[in-house]
Amino acid sequence: MKFEKNILGIGAGYVGGPSMAMIACKCPAYKVTVVDIDPLRIAAWNSDDLPIYEPGLDAIIAATRGKNLFFSTDIEASIRENDIIFVNVNTPVKMFGVGAGMAADLQYWEKTARQILQHSRSSKIVIEKSTFPVKTALAMERILSNNKTIRFDVLSNPEFLSEGNAVNNMENPDRVLIGFRETENGIKARDILVEIYANWVPRERIIGSNIWSSELSKLVSNAFLAQRISSINAISALCEKTDADINEVAMIVGMDSRVGNKFLSVSVGFGGSCFKKDILNLVYLCRHYNLNEVADYWEGVIKINQYQQERFISNILNAMFNTITGKKICLLGFAFKADTGDTRESPAIFIARRLLEEQAEIVVSDPKALKNARADLAGVVGKVSYTEDPYEAVKDCHAIAVLTEWAIYRDLDFHKIYETMTKPAFIFDGRNILDHKRLFKIGFNVYPIGKPPLVHF
Ligand SMILES: NC(=O)c1ccc[n+]([C@@H]2O[C@H](COP(=O)([O-])OP(=O)(O)OC[C@H]3O[C@@H](n4cnc5c(N)ncnc54)[C@H](O)[C@@H]3O)[C@@H](O)[C@H]2O)c1
Repeated sequence: MKFEKNILGIGAGYVGGPSMAMIACKCPAYKVTVVDIDPLRIAAWNSDDLPIYEPGLDAIIAATRGKNLFFSTDIEASIRENDIIFVNVNTPVKMFGVGAGMAADLQYWEKTARQILQHSRSSKIVIEKSTFPVKTALAMERILSNNKTIRFDVLSNPEFLSEGNAVNNMENPDRVLIGFRETENGIKARDILVEIYANWVPRERIIGSNIWSSELSKLVSNAFLAQRISSINAISALCEKTDADINEVAMIVGMDSRVGNKFLSVSVGFGGSCFKKDILNLVYLCRHYNLNEVADYWEGVIKINQYQQERFISNILNAMFNTITGKKICLLGFAFKADTGDTRESPAIFIARRLLEEQAEIVVSDPKALKNARADLAGVVGKVSYTEDPYEAVKDCHAIAVLTEWAIYRDLDFHKIYETMTKPAFIFDGRNILDHKRLFKIGFNVYPIGKPPLVHF
């Protein structure tokens, strides 16, 4: 079959897999190939056990795989055969040398750029979908311009999907952003990308900007989201000292239409692979340009996030008579948020490690993230066990710490749970998702975030 367009996605991770699958699903006339250097990941995409959990993704893969969506490890041939290339590789924080712990590690991206340069035989549009620091497109252009006979047009098209809601986000995006150069070829390349998205995204939501605004907007977007979480979490600490109730404060503040009510849920802190890394990149950029006050401001968002996790541990220790040595604590949820199995930068990792340092015994429960949790805690010293069944997990525990807002946790039979726990039984609701008064009536000592605790002594 002859396809209208041949599209390649390099990098088959949390962004590359779902976003390329969505294009295949919405554009049956295009052939979409997704490649990765990790053969296990590609094998998993080609199996019934997909490498990532995302609601609704199975159905999209089932409808497209083998028809117009293909997963492969043959990067070289795929570069030759496709003329539109999305770069979805990882951009972790650099852990060595200059910029260690802050700057983006661009080795995966640069390797990709060089592979594209080496294996291309015809002109290509290269689209940055990964989150890159400002001016990355310029570096990519400089590498690609080493081939004088082939045209490469570089576009920035950052991905705004939110894990756990990725399918819906990609199907109905708030906006699709395309950063392009205001040149004849830049505009032509932009139009080709617009044409792809216009298969399902209303035109008015497909917006163009200059490349540097596009690259920067993605970092700023995540910085703003994380800042809202740190803002409400910072106020939760004050609520705990003043007997104010953070849920009431958030509701009241959010009713102001200038503020808005979204993203004001208090929690044990944000996680995920992006927020911290993107803010660190932003801070690094600011320091690079000698904007130290601006850098300090954004760094505060990360500091509060760390503080919130430390506070959670202090609250557990204070409540449980300043010792948890030998006590059994159940972590309900390990994923960094609900509806994903992703545990990257999950506060649960930090909480688990700190509890083990205090010589508590921990039982980890999560409906989708146990495989990742096992890898995250491999090699840690202490007693850890894992079980998906929450009722099994809480047996004989002294305390429960709710770390992920999975909907199933709201509907658990807490009478039954209370019966099987060691008394006095404690619940630390790190997401404020449970009915605290009800739990208190059952007999639990309840510690929400940013609200007065409900205790029996
Ligand atoms: N995860 C999210 O929710 C999210 C949302 C928006 C943007 N982003 C950004 O998207 C990018 C990718 O994130 P992710 O979560 O999908 O990462 P990921 O680690 O899940 O996936 C990246 C994939 O790229 C592959 N890869 C690396 N170098 C390669 C190469 N040279 N050739 C082929 N494959 C290569 C890796 O093996 C890996 O499978 C990052 O820049 C991230 O900041 C992520």
